[in-house]
This record gives sequence, C-alpha cells and structure tokens, in this order.
Amino acid sequence: MTEPTHMAPKLRVLLTAEQIQTRIRELAAQIDADYPEGTLLLVCILKGACFFLSDLARALKRDVRLDFMGISSYGMGKSTSGEVKVTKDLDATVEGSDVLIVEDIVDSGVTLNYLMHLLKQRRPRSVHIAALLDKPQRRRRPVHVSYVGFQIPDQFVVGYGLDDAERYRNLPDICVVEEE
Ligand code: PRP
Repeated sequence: MTEPTHMAPKLRVLLTAEQIQTRIRELAAQIDADYPEGTLLLVCILKGACFFLSDLARALKRDVRLDFMGISSYGMGKSTSGEVKVTKDLDATVEGSDVLIVEDIVDSGVTLNYLMHLLKQRRPRSVHIAALLDKPQRRRRPVHVSYVGFQIPDQFVVGYGLDDAERYRNLPDICVVEEE
C-alpha cells in the first residue's frame, strides 16, 4: 500500500493546525480592533493564501468582501524568479476601499512589493498586508507587513496552502521539507 501524502517521511511539522488557528484568531481580533466601522475588502493572493483567507475571514467579526488575485513569481521552482506576473486580476474596483492583502508567506518581498505599488495606484482608502508567515532573512525588497502570523527561519515549508511544485497544499499543518 502506498503511504498517504500526510505521512511522507521527509516532512517535519513546524506549525500545527491548532497553532495556526489560535494565531489566526489573535490576528482577527487585532484586525477587528484596528479598523473603523465599514466593510473591509480582503484580497486573497492565489493560490497559497486560500486557506488563510478562508479561516481569517471566518474569524473576523466585521463585514468583509472577498476578492482574488493571481500573482506568481515562482513558477515550479523553490525561489522567486524575480519576475512578477498577474495571472488573474481583481473583479471589483478597490477605489475608496479599506484593502487588506491576505498572503500565505513573505519571502524575498518581490511579490508584495510589486503588489503594493500596483494596488496603491488604484486609490484605495487604505491598503495593508496580513501574511501568515514571514521569512525576514530572505528579504530582497522592502515590504511592511502589518499583521504577521509567524516569523519562521529560512527553511522551505509546505502545507496549509503552501506547495512544493503544487504538492502538499492540503496538509493541515505547516511542515518543513527536510533535505534527504
Ligand atoms: C508564493 C507566495 C507569495 C510569494 C512570496 O507564491 O504565495 O505570493 O511566493 O514570495 P516572495 O516574497 O519571494 O515574492 P507563488 O508564486 O509560489 O504562488 P502560489 O501561491 O500559487 O504557490
């Protein structure tokens, strides 16, 4: 019998599903307290942030709208190519809205640096970033992340939306891929 993916031997759990959910509830409480009355537009960056968006949105007590943006700079590789590509634009206008970009991870900062410039040109009332994971050691471009779930060391992680060549996104935990 083939071993299920979740039991793959080269994965080590870094953050459990429970730790992730606890931290998301804390972030949601902080976001609810920080924003004035009104609707918050959550912009999910596909594909990796889909689970974070889903859990964060449900933990927030305020009114939210959801929109999705496809933006890719990695292809099938493990590190950024440095070239950012918008693969799917937002459906709605962001002009005059409070926008919160929801990302799974900030690594080099190339993606979010680009995205912040792009969205600011569209005249939102405000635009901030919530990122579940941050690898500050890897930064090549400056990015201000208002809400960080966890700072993690410079290790390749998968699960809870994060992939290795499209694999492992559905793991409930965040795991380090150990070198064989
Ligand atoms: C990952 C991640 C961020 C970006 C972060 O996306 O979801 O968007 O890389 O890296 P950076 O800070 O070095 O720019 P990826 O391009 O792998 O797409 P995916 O979310 O569809 O897997």
